[in-house]
Parts: sequence; C-alpha cells; structure tokens
Amino acid sequence: MSEVFARIAGTGSYLPARCVTNDELSKTVDTSDEWIFSRTGIRERHYAADNESASDLALIACQRAMKAARVDANDIDLIIVATSTPDMVFPSTACILQDKLGVKEAIAFDVQAVCAGFVYGLATAEKFIRTGAAKCTLVVGTEVFSRIMNWQDRTTCVLFGDGAGAVVLKASTEPGILSTHLHADGSYRQALCAPGTVENGKIRGSPMLTMEGGAVYKFAVKAFEDVAWEALHANGLQPDAIDWFICHQANQRIIMHAAKRLAMPDDKVVITVDRHGNTSAASIPLALDVSVREGKIKPGQIVLMAALGGGFAWGAAIAKW
Ligand code: UT7
Repeated sequence: MSEVFARIAGTGSYLPARCVTNDELSKTVDTSDEWIFSRTGIRERHYAADNESASDLALIACQRAMKAARVDANDIDLIIVATSTPDMVFPSTACILQDKLGVKEAIAFDVQAVCAGFVYGLATAEKFIRTGAAKCTLVVGTEVFSRIMNWQDRTTCVLFGDGAGAVVLKASTEPGILSTHLHADGSYRQALCAPGTVENGKIRGSPMLTMEGGAVYKFAVKAFEDVAWEALHANGLQPDAIDWFICHQANQRIIMHAAKRLAMPDDKVVITVDRHGNTSAASIPLALDVSVREGKIKPGQIVLMAALGGGFAWGAAIAKW
C-alpha cells in the first residue's frame, strides 16, 4: 500500500469588519501609535461585533478554505478548532462549527494550546490523515481575544486582535506536511495566562489576559530558533531551502530577531501583525491565507511555520505547497 500524506488543499480567513488603528485606540488607552508601532510593528487590529463569536468567525474562514480546496460539507470528516476564546464552556466550538457548516458525522474537537493552537491542530490532523483515520479535515484557528482584554492594562490590550484562519488538509499520494514538532513547558504557565475559571456559577479569579511581556519575548526568540532548526534538521534542510517563514504574529521585532538568528532573508519572512495584531491561534492560518491570496506562496514551495503561546506551548511545521 502506498504511503498517505497530508496536504494543504485550500486556505481561508476572516477578519471582523471593525478595524481599530493605534491612533483610535490611543483615544481610550494611555498609549500612542509611535509606542505600539516601534515596539511591536502593529498598526491596526480587528474586533468582533458583540454578536460575533469564535465559531462565527471560523465559519466564514472555513467556507472560504473549502471553496479554495473545492470540497463541500459532505467531504469533511474531521474538524479541529484551535481557540482560547471558545463560544462556551462546552460543547466544543468545533461541534458548534460543525453544525453551522452543515457537516454531518465528522469528528469534531477543540485544541487548547493558545497561540500555538493552530500548529498543534495541524499536527493532530496530519496524524489522523497519515493513519487513515481521516481523509479531509478542517483545521481552524479562531479567536475573539478582545473579549479577554483588560482595557486598563496598556501593556497587553494594544497587542491583540480578533480573526480566524482555516486550512483544508487532505489525504494525498504526494508529500504536503513534511513534519511537525510540538513542545510544552507548564512551569511557565503564569507568564502568559487568563487565570480565571467558572465555579458555582461565578467567575473565580480574573478571566482577563495577563502577560510578563519581557519574559515571553526572551523565551519566544529562542524557542522559534530552536524549533525551526529541529524542523529543518528533521528534513535534512538548511534555512535557504525555505521559501516562506511564517512565525506566530505577536511582535515584528520577535519575528525578525528569530529570522536573523536563522539567517533567513527579510523577503522570505511573512509579516501580517501590522494589519492583524496578535490573533493568537488564528495568526498563522491568517498569515498563510493572506500569503496565498497575495500570490506569495506558490505550488511546490516550502513553508516553515513556528508558533509559541501560553503554557508555554510551542511548535513548528514544514509544509510543501
Ligand atoms: O502571543 C504570545 C506571545 N506574546 C508575545 O510574544 C509578546 C512578547 N512581548 C512583547 O512583545 C513585548 O515585551 C511588549 C511589546 C509586550 C512590550 O515591549 P517592551 O519593549 O518589552 O516594553 P516594556 O514592557 O519594557 O515597557 C517599556 C515602557 C514602560 O514604561 P517605563 O516603565 O519604562 O516608564 C511601559 O510602562 O513602555 C511602557 N508601556 C507603554 N507605553 C505606551 C507599556 N505599554 C505601553 C503602551 N503604550 N501600550
């Protein structure tokens, strides 16, 4: 029997209509375009409307990815949603999305790896496909981080945005996802967290995001470099074999710092954080979709993805387009 691979057959994304620039934000938060842009590369971000949930954003991203992949609801047999801002405590956002998409009988579940969630989801879907347990999967990162912002904390509330990105991953006789590499270290769990929980009908602790920015920055640069080398070595590749480096879009300085350590030229580094802010699990699939639709990523090219988020959880994936 010939080997089964998992290939990305289509991408899609969705950004809520409301776009907020740094200047607009600085009317209500003690900040400035100059500070935000020079420290992070962010110019603007999108915020979901009050009646838009993570599954609503995911629905449009998935519909666009399915159209690009030329598949319909009957083809989908697995849905993995990466989110830290689910519609509700349970059921999973994936089950809600399955119903909204009109998909019947597909396996559906969420993965929780914060900003690394999409890479975790991709790695999981790839294993389902390679073992024959699924043939046509949706992997979607979707977030409404604006709902967990502490608007009194200017060190975090200016950084994040809402959005969704999706890929259709299909079984193929040709290699697509070349390898995935996942890591976690829970001893850092307090560096980036939303520690509140629901208890006896009340919220216990703060449900808002807190971050030790400097500690995350330092860890992220090293983790991106190390996990990228791990992925390159696993495939016998050098950085010059990579056509596009798509890092989690949290901060342009972190991305360029990591790219420099990998000797990756600037023109191979995808930047969307300027337009999207940090959309957590949605950031990599959003950047993938933008790059495909802008005509950057072309068939046959090699894409290196790397992500890190709360946990810490981090990982990388190399895909042949
Ligand atoms: O998605 C998960 C991954 N997350 C990340 O990768 C984020 C990693 N961390 C970062 O990107 C950066 O650490 C930040 C962008 C969060 C912060 O940048 P920084 O250069 O490390 O700034 P800082 O925290 O050292 O703050 C420098 C100054 C402080 O003022 P003082 O104490 O020096 O007077 C802050 O109070 O900047 C001040 N500051 C601000 N000023 C204007 C902090 N936030 C703001 C703000 N506007 N929004």
